[in-house]
Amino acid sequence: MQIGSVILAAGMSKRMKSAVPKVIHPILGKPILAYAIATAQAVSSLPPVVVVGHASELVMQNINAGVEYAFQKEQLGTAHAVMMAKDCLKGKVDQVMVISADMPLIRKETLEMLIDSQLSNDGPMSMVSIVDDESRGFGRIIRNEAGDALAIIEEKVADAQQLMIKEYNAGIYCFKSDWLWNALETVKKSAVGEYYLTDLLQIAVEAHQPVKVITLPDAEEAIGINNRVHLAEVEKIMRRRINEAFMLDGVSMIDPERVYIEASVEIGQDTVIYPETYIRGKSKIGKNCEIGPGTIIDDSIVGDDCRILKSVMERAELEDHVEMGPFCHLRSGAYLASHVHMGNFGEVKKSYLGEGTKMGHFSYIGDAQIGNNVNIGAGTITCNYDGQKKNKTVIGDGTFIGSDTMLVAPLTIGKNAVTGAGAVVTKDVGDGEKVVGVPAHVIENKKEEDHS
Ligand code: UD1
Ligand code: CA
Repeated sequence: MQIGSVILAAGMSKRMKSAVPKVIHPILGKPILAYAIATAQAVSSLPPVVVVGHASELVMQNINAGVEYAFQKEQLGTAHAVMMAKDCLKGKVDQVMVISADMPLIRKETLEMLIDSQLSNDGPMSMVSIVDDESRGFGRIIRNEAGDALAIIEEKVADAQQLMIKEYNAGIYCFKSDWLWNALETVKKSAVGEYYLTDLLQIAVEAHQPVKVITLPDAEEAIGINNRVHLAEVEKIMRRRINEAFMLDGVSMIDPERVYIEASVEIGQDTVIYPETYIRGKSKIGKNCEIGPGTIIDDSIVGDDCRILKSVMERAELEDHVEMGPFCHLRSGAYLASHVHMGNFGEVKKSYLGEGTKMGHFSYIGDAQIGNNVNIGAGTITCNYDGQKKNKTVIGDGTFIGSDTMLVAPLTIGKNAVTGAGAVVTKDVGDGEKVVGVPAHVIENKKEEDHS
């Protein structure tokens, strides 16, 4: 049995009051429509057909591979939109599932249940309804006394009595393919000038064809995003789903309502995430870490047993047992080897800090290669930019950089060297040399043995 799917994404979305189409607004790092597409892909035999129209170029730019497109030039309603997918699917599939791009919370299990229901239905359609106190502008399901569904009445055209009904159309359907394409031709323009897909229920009923309605126990899945209040609501639910999956996998969260993690992230067991922490993109966090409070980690790698307090990392990497924060900023290309300690107010960009190196207070390290067990004194600055280009600083193992040292790059400092407090180092320093002053000059040349 071949199952095709149609995802409606051509609408104007006026209610979002946005310059960009609503379905590309992001939820936890992915555009709204990416969620419905992924769910449809999981249950369809062919790539889902995405119906685009309003700002179609922008919408298509936000879709990954694995879909086909149908174009709806004028947004004449949901029935008209589905009709646009006919050429892609007619004759290729037995059943056609239809969902909206603005419903990211739909679960794969629900679509499977709908398809199963339709496969065991002699009639042409199965659909999903919800029961809730809040109407969200949804169409009402009209039933007769025997409980059979007769019609869907859109809120815009419903009368006072119909508006009281608390069973709503979720906007998730599965149709027998041949029937669908013919029935769509018979849909008439509604009172507001649109061709409503929802009319198909009444069309089936009038032809005495059995329709199955699955009522979901939980209305949450059917929340469609029509405005920014819904967007925030959906984001919160999605976040809860993601956080629960992490917690069930062995990650602890102190107050998960205030933890913001994207589904793409990986986190090891026994790591604890504190509030106001954002972990995004391709980030990977190891085991036994403590992250946050107040930390942002974007596209970064963190080893095992690390502690990061009130800090920001962007495309940076930590090995194991690194401690950083509060108020550190690791920018692109920062790499801290194991047991590095980075205290308050440090910034590192495109630099390597070797094992056991310490950088306790107020420093900027950019474009540097720093060895193992180096002490970077308070206020040390790599003066890496000469106004034209970025220059490199190299520091050998075991070197002691005194407080407030200015390292004027390009510069190489050897192993086990020392710079005095306030030194402005403009020339290379050899292994074991001690330099002081402005500009710095050598005052001592210790032999390697002195350090053994
Ligand atoms: C629709 C249903 C309503 C249901 C609700 C559930 C209709 C007429 N109404 O209402 O019964 O309770 O979903 O969420 O179907 N679209 C197009 N082309 C168009 C018009 C719409 O592609 O010409 C797309 C929209 O981009 C959107 C989807 O179809 O993704 C649904 O349209 P929308 O305007 O959001 O319908 P609702 O008012 O939510
Ligand atoms: Ca909608």
